[in-house]
Amino acid sequence: MRTSEIRSKFLNFFEKKSHAVLPSDSLVPQNDPTLLFTGAGMNQFKDMFLGKGNLNVKKAATCQKCLRTGDIDNVGKTASHHTFFEMLGNFSFGDYFKQKTIEWAWEFLVQELKISEERLSVSVYKDDHESYEIWEKHIHIPKSRIYRYDQKDNFWPANAPLLGPNGPCGPCSEIFFDQGEKIGCGRKECDPACECDRFVEIWNLVFTEYDRKEGGKLEPLPHQNVDTGMGLERMARVMQGVQTNFDIDIFRPIISSIEEIAQVKYNGRVENAILMRRIADHVKACVFCISDGVLPGNEGRGYVERRLLRRAIRDGTQLGVKDSFLYKLVPIVSNVMQDYYPDIKQRRENIARIIKNEEEKFHETLEQGTRILEELMETLHKSNQKTLSGKEAFKLYDTYGFPLDMTEAILNEKGFVVDRNGFEDELQKQRLQARTASQMTGQVFDTGPLSKIKDISKGSKFLGYNQNTCQGKIIAIIRNNELVDVAIVGSEVTVILDQTPFYGESGGQIGDTGILESDGTLIQVTDTRRNDDFTLHTGKVIKGELKTGIVVEAKVDVQRRNDIRKNHSATHILHYALRRVIGQHAEQAGSLVAPDRIRFDFHHFSALTKEEITRIEDLVNEKILENVPVSAKELTIQQAKNAGALALFGEKYGELVRMLSMGDYSKELCGGTHVDSSGEIGLFRIVSESSVAAGIRRIEAVTGMSTLKREREKEDIIQEICEILNTTEGKLVTKAQDILHELKNLQKELSRVKQKELSSKIHTLIENAKEVSGVKIITRKLEDATVDDLRKTADLLIKSAEDVAIILGAIQDGRVTIIAAMSPNLVKRGFHAGNISKEVAKLVGGGGGGRPDMSQAGGQWVEKLDDALHFATELLSKKILQTISS
Ligand code: ALA
Repeated sequence: MRTSEIRSKFLNFFEKKSHAVLPSDSLVPQNDPTLLFTGAGMNQFKDMFLGKGNLNVKKAATCQKCLRTGDIDNVGKTASHHTFFEMLGNFSFGDYFKQKTIEWAWEFLVQELKISEERLSVSVYKDDHESYEIWEKHIHIPKSRIYRYDQKDNFWPANAPLLGPNGPCGPCSEIFFDQGEKIGCGRKECDPACECDRFVEIWNLVFTEYDRKEGGKLEPLPHQNVDTGMGLERMARVMQGVQTNFDIDIFRPIISSIEEIAQVKYNGRVENAILMRRIADHVKACVFCISDGVLPGNEGRGYVERRLLRRAIRDGTQLGVKDSFLYKLVPIVSNVMQDYYPDIKQRRENIARIIKNEEEKFHETLEQGTRILEELMETLHKSNQKTLSGKEAFKLYDTYGFPLDMTEAILNEKGFVVDRNGFEDELQKQRLQARTASQMTGQVFDTGPLSKIKDISKGSKFLGYNQNTCQGKIIAIIRNNELVDVAIVGSEVTVILDQTPFYGESGGQIGDTGILESDGTLIQVTDTRRNDDFTLHTGKVIKGELKTGIVVEAKVDVQRRNDIRKNHSATHILHYALRRVIGQHAEQAGSLVAPDRIRFDFHHFSALTKEEITRIEDLVNEKILENVPVSAKELTIQQAKNAGALALFGEKYGELVRMLSMGDYSKELCGGTHVDSSGEIGLFRIVSESSVAAGIRRIEAVTGMSTLKREREKEDIIQEICEILNTTEGKLVTKAQDILHELKNLQKELSRVKQKELSSKIHTLIENAKEVSGVKIITRKLEDATVDDLRKTADLLIKSAEDVAIILGAIQDGRVTIIAAMSPNLVKRGFHAGNISKEVAKLVGGGGGGRPDMSQAGGQWVEKLDDALHFATELLSKKILQTISS
């Protein structure tokens, strides 16, 4: 049975049991900044468990994309560990409980999947007699195959009563598939809790009925819930009768491609198989991360992704692959996953490019690491040491992707070793951090004022699509992160109304500003944001006293909102035009829609040419001038996709979506506010195009009155230039060319004059030189000369006379500069310009030095320059006499 068949059987089964089949949440948890990645099917339903959610269903089923990195070191080594995996789950929010959950799970396994009953064992929480009874009396499982375990194994989250986290939790019952005595430890007493491979845990049924409080107190939740999780890959492994998750249909093709690229057999050395499984796991994880909008980076999610990619690249090198190769696996991942994830297929070229780019970068980093290792060995050698510290080895591992054995091999060759214990300590430290970061803490509970508001309200109604003002009742006031009933003049507050025309920042569109007012009360709203279904107006009480329960008139700043609407509609046209002009891959990667400008990020790997920019600008303006109607419609996500609507990278959409259409060329899922017809946008201009990250470009643009303002400013500048140059706009270019031409001629003339002057100066200098034993000594102060002039003069002098020793000085900006130069003959006889200039410079209170043929020195005492030059003459004369006589 193919993996996709198991997935659809599961969802269909629960649909028939009247569950709503909902889409997977993004890997980036929406509305939960505390959680790095979605790690379980229940994440998106936490509010439902707490009785605060506003989904209209009591039974749901999903196939959820999950990413967990807590056990990353086991990936590839065991049969079933993954970073990325899919979790099938059915959920009850105060509807059915233990009996139905267990019955349906059994029915699905035995009747739908036709797994033989004898091979299934179950476990229950040691005190959960009810579940035990259901399994024994109702399902008729022999007692010998029902196990009771404690909270480490049969509570979810594991050990929650003892260790936390606070929030929803409950006892669980697990179902195991017995692969038979031949697999695993072979002990007679082996059971599902054994660490060996014999029993595969295929389904976890969690009875989420408690709210854990500080100190471990378990309080009953408002209703009893069910949260189940079945690892899809494990189930497929059981159904396909293969040894590891990596042998199932959605992994084998990836492994085969790795075999082909590396020219290494999967069934050969165990170490190689581990590497190959890890590559397959990690590349799949990264494909899904990128598709959900996470790009490799140095922080948070991006860093996790980068590390996964780098581990996989490094594993490739261990297999002997020299060049970038992971990106070649993207189409294979897309092929095996496209049934349920058409997005991956649609985006595979972009994803492959992003991965390839990262691979190329990493290969450079590896080279850098090799150099650093060489330097480290050099330092060890110099200080007579033999051991590289654990910290350094770990840095190479962590930053430059050097596996410890590689570092060791290179070191050993040269007779050095690594402090292994030190390395392990560092590794442990980091693991601990990674665990803490990926723990389930925080996943289940938003605390703070918003959590309290969710107890009393489901959210604020947004009326701003067709209204700029409306009456709204204040349902909450937040001040200093606390709920308050009253706020007085001058307080900074966040206000929540039962309904509002204010748009809260989301989808790139900036939040509205405006006022909230009633008799005697006025609040200036400076920003509006959203959290779940709540609109948060932030601002200051200007007049009167604000009280919960009063009704206010909410008025959006209409002019500003209109500018925002124009800009938002323009981004949709720009998105369309970009994909038409440079290709379908140029999908939106982010945007900012403000009243005065648009910032639009998109996927593309090279800078746009001037011609492309013009074509994009033209196309956008043509579409604006067509003045087609802009309309929005609510549809199911499927209907919208069928209609060809563009969804965004990594955006999660609910069951009902808002599709925004412009004429017949643009359809996007969008919750923003827009113009009624495209003509309202006015003139569109691109202001700049630049790079934001590897594979992401950014366009900044303006529309409407902002364009007019910008054009006027440019016109003013032209006008000003015309006035300066004393010409008219029509003649400006010719005038500029004329001036440049004239300037060039003047420069030529000037350099000719200078050259002539210099030659005559050289001549005079040589004529007036003091001669000692056939050597000419030239020590002179040049007026108004720069360092460059001094050098040039010295150069020319050396070329114009045979045996000459030169010291030239000049004063510039209150400092003395001295240049010394010696003819090659003198250098041969031991004259050293550097040493001489150094001695001379001492007299002007400075120093310097340099090469034997030419050098520079300087000092502060300008009044001493003449003396110094006089001294230079003496010094040189003496030296010449000494050399000649010796
Ligand atoms: N939430 C449960 C788990 O992750 C089903 O195992």
